[in-house]
Amino acid sequence: MTTDFNAQSDNIERVKMILEAKYNRPVYAFVHTYGCQGNVSDSERIKGILKACGYDFVDSPEEADLVLFNTCAVREHAEDRVFGNVGALKNIKEKRRDMIIALCGCMMQQQHIADKIKKSYPYVNLVFGTNHAHKLPEMLYRVLNGKRTFDISEPKKDIVEGLPTVRDRAFKAWLPIMYGCDNFCSYCIVPYVRGRECSRKSEDIIKEAKELIANGAKDITLLGQNVNSYGKGLYEDINFSQLLRKINALPGDFIIRFMTSHPKDCSKELLDTMRDCEKVARHLHLPFQSGNNRVLKDMNRHYTAEQYLELVRYAREIMPDLAITSDVIVGFPNETYEEFCDTLKLIEKVKFTSLFTFIYSKRTGTAAAKMIDVNTREEKAKRMRELLDLQESIAQERTASYVGQTISVLVEETDGKGMLVGRTNDNITIRFEGDEKLVGTIRNVCVIEALSWIVKGKIAE
Ligand code: SAH
Ligand code: SF4
Ligand code: F3S
Repeated sequence: MTTDFNAQSDNIERVKMILEAKYNRPVYAFVHTYGCQGNVSDSERIKGILKACGYDFVDSPEEADLVLFNTCAVREHAEDRVFGNVGALKNIKEKRRDMIIALCGCMMQQQHIADKIKKSYPYVNLVFGTNHAHKLPEMLYRVLNGKRTFDISEPKKDIVEGLPTVRDRAFKAWLPIMYGCDNFCSYCIVPYVRGRECSRKSEDIIKEAKELIANGAKDITLLGQNVNSYGKGLYEDINFSQLLRKINALPGDFIIRFMTSHPKDCSKELLDTMRDCEKVARHLHLPFQSGNNRVLKDMNRHYTAEQYLELVRYAREIMPDLAITSDVIVGFPNETYEEFCDTLKLIEKVKFTSLFTFIYSKRTGTAAAKMIDVNTREEKAKRMRELLDLQESIAQERTASYVGQTISVLVEETDGKGMLVGRTNDNITIRFEGDEKLVGTIRNVCVIEALSWIVKGKIAE
């Protein structure tokens, strides 16, 4: 189901009036985002709503009238950082009593976390979950009237369209195509905090894509926890490959990326579509998590290492220049050293362009949290070191093969000291000298030196 944001316009007006009466000056918000691109995209919408309510944005909590943290729950470390940073706000708030502190997102969607905030962090004014941002004006109105507000009711299945957005960079855009996850990988908290999988209508996605392109987007990443199952449950008959073809057909000079693909739903049709669509980046992020079939089964991933390797083989057969990146978990509760070695073997076979590596982190409420964890912290750290050593030597070999080539690069940022940082179509990071005016443009760059993860280059024109 889709609902519209216009229903909140009365609340926006009421918030604006209170803010004007209370401050009689510009009001400022500081928004900080933890976690994945899905959260970054949510924050762009949250900022859009705050702007509609009258807030401008600042870069530090000290200058802000409202501080909002959009949190992540995927690993314990992510949660620890949030608690640390919320703790640090206490001192600021002691000096500025009417500052509003708001916490939202995946971590807050868990009852035990919301309870802990309620009890131990009394200076936090507002807590809301992952599908409540559209109600922010209503919640802010309550808070501005002195009511501490907590809303982490179950994430609903309806999608709210028409939310305003404030985007950090016009040329690099995040475009959500679906929300939630139905896969319940045994280690993962996301399905519990993000609710059931739900796709946006293709006409809403296309409309947003057109707006992004008109506003100068050069690099658009389609977002979803499992983009390959896009379309399920929609009235229209559409799958992810068909959606990609529609976006590819839009006029303009831009690159399309997408993440994340689940191997169990990554079809040959999708790979053929990537090959056929000239705007789709030659980059596939395909998390494998483990190279051992017993561990994969316990992870509830629904594919084998052999099936994964077959997908990679086919993808490279039809797109020899494809960059493949992945996620891997080390130290799943009952993983033996021999089973971990299967992960190393898979990495050696595939030779990923880059890898996002994680030590298993127990998440309360997941199936894996009930398994007995046989590995010590030291053992997990040792396996991680072994894996990183292997990946580094592979990455070095890969990046070395780029030296001498001239490649098309989207210039993403400057370090302010004359060096630019860009990303190639196949997701390699490249540093080169150049004017900061080039940020947001696509340039040809010749690779002159390979470092282990990134390459150095020189503008070719
Ligand atoms: N939906 C995406 C991944 C989202 S989470 C997918 O299925 O590919 C991003 C990554 O975090 C996962 O791919 C996994 O490698 C890692 N991750 C998730 N839960 C974790 C946990 N409990 N401990 C360690 N790593 C975890
Ligand atoms: Fe988590 Fe698995 Fe869903 Fe990815 S597909 S978000 S790893 S449950
Ligand atoms: Fe974290 Fe939520 Fe994303 S748990 S990784 S912010 S979906």
